[in-house]
Formats: sequence, structure tokens, C-alpha cells
Amino acid sequence: MENKITVIGAGNVGASVAQYLAEANLADVVLLDVVEGMPQGKALDLTEAGPIRGYNARLTGTNDYRDIAGSRMVVVTAGVARTPGMSREDLLAKNSSILDKVVAGIQANAPQAMILVVSNPLDIMTYHTLRKSGLPKTRVFGQAGVLDSIRFRAFVAMELGVALTDTQAMVMGGHGDTMVPLPRYTAVSGIPIRELMPEDRVQALIQRTRDGGGEIVRLLKSGSAYYAPAAAAVEMVKAVIRDEKKLLPASVLLEGEYGLSDICIGAPVILGSGGVERVIELELAEDERAALHASAATYKEILTSMGY
Ligand SMILES: NC(=O)c1ccc[n+]([C@@H]2O[C@H](COP(=O)([O-])OP(=O)(O)OC[C@H]3O[C@@H](n4cnc5c(N)ncnc54)[C@H](O)[C@@H]3O)[C@@H](O)[C@H]2O)c1
Repeated sequence: MENKITVIGAGNVGASVAQYLAEANLADVVLLDVVEGMPQGKALDLTEAGPIRGYNARLTGTNDYRDIAGSRMVVVTAGVARTPGMSREDLLAKNSSILDKVVAGIQANAPQAMILVVSNPLDIMTYHTLRKSGLPKTRVFGQAGVLDSIRFRAFVAMELGVALTDTQAMVMGGHGDTMVPLPRYTAVSGIPIRELMPEDRVQALIQRTRDGGGEIVRLLKSGSAYYAPAAAAVEMVKAVIRDEKKLLPASVLLEGEYGLSDICIGAPVILGSGGVERVIELELAEDERAALHASAATYKEILTSMGY
């Protein structure tokens, strides 16, 4: 195919990203992981599904960064999950050192690629990748807000018994407890949800959205969500590869927008072939702006502890 996309980390999220990319006939896909054989096995398995799933993408599994050469985009899903006894700082140190290796591999083999970060803690890893890579902010961004928005949309649809696809939503801020769902911009076929349900239900759905990742973790008992996270990442890749100029939330470097700077956090952007082509600055209400600033403050603290 014309385009080549690399997915680093062939775990639950990475393999699902590869599957959705192939099924969308978007690009050839390289799956890279440190575990020997596993990315090769998943790529072969996905290739064997192609004849009846209707795709012709070439899927390659590898442990060698040389195979990512020529990639237009790299989706980073490599990382470890927090295990019992592991502090938040330990996780940060471990995942940022994994990202260091990933960035070095990209710089040496696919320096032209845009980087979409999915690894957690998302907004921190996006900032770290941006700084380590030295790439412009248009070319390094993170996926979180699309996932949080589609969770909000799903909960609205389930609450009202309407089509999932008729819903719209916008979630800003960091990926975690401090995210900022915006009910003013959440609607069913353009009708704001506050006209369709009472305020206590709106607040309940906001809370469920904030806890959306945790709800899945509690149900799965081991591991975390991957179908919706992968779908969200592929939506962003598609916007770039097809130059769709989609308005989506993304974790991006802010430089004064919303009164914030030198931080990556979720904000609405236009995604197209140039990557983050524009940050959209909404007129936020006082409480929304305060929530966004509170979210940013928690990340600033973490970045400072990392020496930024
Ligand atoms: N941003 C989001 O919305 C979102 C949503 C879900 C998950 N995540 C994050 O995505 C990441 C992946 O989640 P998952 O469920 O797929 O985990 P997983 O454990 O199934 O997969 C992670 C993979 O990364 C690989 N890996 C580790 N070190 C590596 C390295 N140096 N180079 C290449 N690969 C390496 C592992 O071998 C493993 O296969 C986690 O950090 C998770 O927290 C983010």
C-alpha cells in the first residue's frame, strides 16, 4: 500500500491498532515489540484473517527498528502497567526510559515520521516524547481525548437509548481523574444533552466518563481497555493519512492557548496531513477553565519532578 504505519508495542492496544488499521485499508503495518516472536506471530495471524476480512495490507512483525524505515506515522503503545508495590514514580521512570529507546529507534530509522503517543501516563509521555525527539509540536501528539469523548458518547447513547453514532462530545484536559468533559458541547444530533436529560444524569455520566478506564479495569481484573483505545488511535491516524482536517481532542503542546504553556494536555485540534494543524481555542466558562487549570497543575508538578 502507499503508506506505512509502525505500531511500537504489540500488546493488547498495539495489536488492536494493527487490526483496525488493516481493516480500514489505511496502510501497511509494522508491529514492533521487544518480545521475540510475539509481534511476528500477531502479524502473521492478522495477515491470515485478511482474505475474509477484506484487506490487502502487508503486516510485518519485528524486533528490529530497521524495519520501521519509511513509516509515515509511528503509534507508540509500548509500556508496562503498574504492578502491586510499584509507585507512580517507578512507573514514570520505567515508561519514560522505554520511550527514550523508542524515540532513539525512530530518530535513527524513521526521522520523518509523526509520532502518536498512547503509552501512559499519556500527557506526561507525550511531553517527554516531544522534548526527547526535538520534533515540532505539530508532529508529536497524544491520544486520550478521543477515547474519553467516545466513552462519554457511548454513555449518552446508552442513557437515552439512541444510536451511538448520533452522539457528539468533547473532553479536554488530562487523561485521568482530572479530565474535563464539556457537557455544553455534548449532544445527540446537535441537540445539547441538557435538553434531553436532567442535570443529575448529566453529572452521573460525566463521573462515569472520568472513571471510564477504571470501570473496565475492575471488570477485566487483569489488564486494561484496548478496543476503544485502539479505535481512538486509529481515528487520529486516519485523520492524518487521509488529510481529513478532523476536529478532535488531542494531547498537544500548549503555548499560551487557554492560558497554559510548556505542557501537553488535551485540547481540541484540527488533525490533517500536517499533523496538528491548529489548536482550537474555545471560550470556556469560569468553572471549565478552572478545571482545566487544575488538571494542568497536576501534570506540571510531575514534569517538574522529572527535571523539566
Ligand atoms: N492513552 C490511552 O487512552 C490509553 C488507553 C489504554 C492503554 N493505554 C496505555 O497503552 C500502553 C499499552 O497498553 P496495553 O494494554 O497494550 O499493554 P500490554 O502490556 O498489553 O502491551 C505493552 C507492550 O509493550 C511492549 N514493550 C515493553 N517495552 C517495550 C520496548 N522498549 N519497546 C517495544 N515494546 C515494548 C511489551 O512487550 C508489551 O507487548 C500502556 O502504557 C497503557 O497504559 C493508553
